[in-house]
Amino acid sequence: MQNKVLILDFGSQYTQLIGRRVRELNIFSEIKPYNKLPKDLSEYKAVILSGSPLSVRGEDAVHPDLSEIRGKKPLLGVCYGAQYLAHFHGGSVEKSNTREYGRANLSFIKENEPFFDKVDTGSQVWMSHADTIKHLPENTTLLASTHDVENAAFKFEGEETYAIQFHPEVYHSKDGKQVLENFLVNIAGMEQTWTPDAFVDKTVAELKEKIGDEKVILGLSGGVDSTVAAVLLHKAIGKNLHCIFVNNGLLRKNEFGDVLKQYEGMGLNVKGVDASARFLDDLAGESDPETKRKTIGRVFIEVFDDESHLVENAKWLAQGTIYPDVIESVSATGGPSQTIKSHHNVGGLPDYMKLKVVEPLKMLFKDEVRRVGASLGIDKALLGRHPFPGPGLAIRILGDITPEKVAILQEVDAIFIDGLKKWDLYDKVWQAGAMLLPVNSVGVMGDERTYEKCVALRAVESTDGMTADWVNLPYEFLQKTSNDIINKVPGVNRVVYDISSKPPATIEWE
Ligand code: XMP
Repeated sequence: MQNKVLILDFGSQYTQLIGRRVRELNIFSEIKPYNKLPKDLSEYKAVILSGSPLSVRGEDAVHPDLSEIRGKKPLLGVCYGAQYLAHFHGGSVEKSNTREYGRANLSFIKENEPFFDKVDTGSQVWMSHADTIKHLPENTTLLASTHDVENAAFKFEGEETYAIQFHPEVYHSKDGKQVLENFLVNIAGMEQTWTPDAFVDKTVAELKEKIGDEKVILGLSGGVDSTVAAVLLHKAIGKNLHCIFVNNGLLRKNEFGDVLKQYEGMGLNVKGVDASARFLDDLAGESDPETKRKTIGRVFIEVFDDESHLVENAKWLAQGTIYPDVIESVSATGGPSQTIKSHHNVGGLPDYMKLKVVEPLKMLFKDEVRRVGASLGIDKALLGRHPFPGPGLAIRILGDITPEKVAILQEVDAIFIDGLKKWDLYDKVWQAGAMLLPVNSVGVMGDERTYEKCVALRAVESTDGMTADWVNLPYEFLQKTSNDIINKVPGVNRVVYDISSKPPATIEWE
């Protein structure tokens, strides 16, 4: 493919955002660590250098050899990338005297510059840097400044190399996406053809070619990623895709039956396996959160393995891995150590299951998975489902797990989640759920003293689950939900609402 952008990652927290913004422009992008420059650069039509926590003045400053790129392909340096282009090419970078974090406004030095097409002077941009570019290299033209940053944007004459001190990838840079579009479309001449429909067509053709008439096994979880992966594969290989949907007894109320029906309605070749008793037996008496997780992971593999063996002659294992799980991230120190996040929707499979792995979504960001899902005609409600942890309600029942506690929490959770939907709040919340606490408290119902369970409700807003804040749900909604729970769920006499952010708390209580 010629129409790709290479994003060289110098370890910035925003590198993935650059990738996403470029994809939002319907242009395909790939992120690679700065020290793993692809050998074949002919695949890429333009290159973007990311920011970095490092300083170009430091001993640990990284400066990969870009001689095969600079002057040969359109190149854009962002923040550290811009400082890199200045410092190692005849200019100079110094420690900044004023704080340069947050909002700033562009003023153009050179008018009618295609790089700033459709961007008005005064446009708000986002700065986040401790160093500043003092002197530009020779043969460069200053394009824009801000109040505190003289050299905010510049270009090298005679080549398509641009450098910007601000971050076009963050939402606070109002015209950031326009700037990226100007660079990629106006200057690099790229085509905006990376659409969900195009992805589906191309991927289905590739899967057909790769898998032929061999059989594939896939573990469905009810979540967005595994569902979209299944529908894509089903489109490519039909009944040769064998889906397994395991009930671990820790799903939401009626979830197993409802989701299974939905899958069948989509024409998927899916087998529902109710292994609730097996999971709950193995979890009995266990209170430690990590042991609970491990037990569930182990039992899942056992169940999945048993079921896979029933599919004769299966050659492939499909997984719903997505791009953020496979991007190699550069360590914050910029050093050579690489952290590769690995992710297995099926909890990591034993070696003896000698299956080839196919991951049709591994180049997609989460929002793209949803767009591809929509283009495949998957139900909107299914695509918009909140994330739900693999260990399910096990990590929302604090302390040991019993079938009675699971039943109580399923009822509480259903009242909360159905209420969010009725009040039109569900889509405004990133994730919500209820926790069953391991304490009883005193209450009074009628003339009777009660001594029953307490539940905590949690609703958070977030973009990726890494940080989160509690949602300011309307008091009237909380009041009604609390009433419903206490009146309708025997064994619960108190409801509290969790108002902790992450960090320092986490989303789940265990
Ligand atoms: P925390 O509690 O770490 O959760 O703030 C962040 C996100 O991860 C989900 N989560 C899990 N997902 N297995 C999963 O598949 C787990 O063990 C697990 N623990 C937390 C959580 O629901 C939230 O979306």
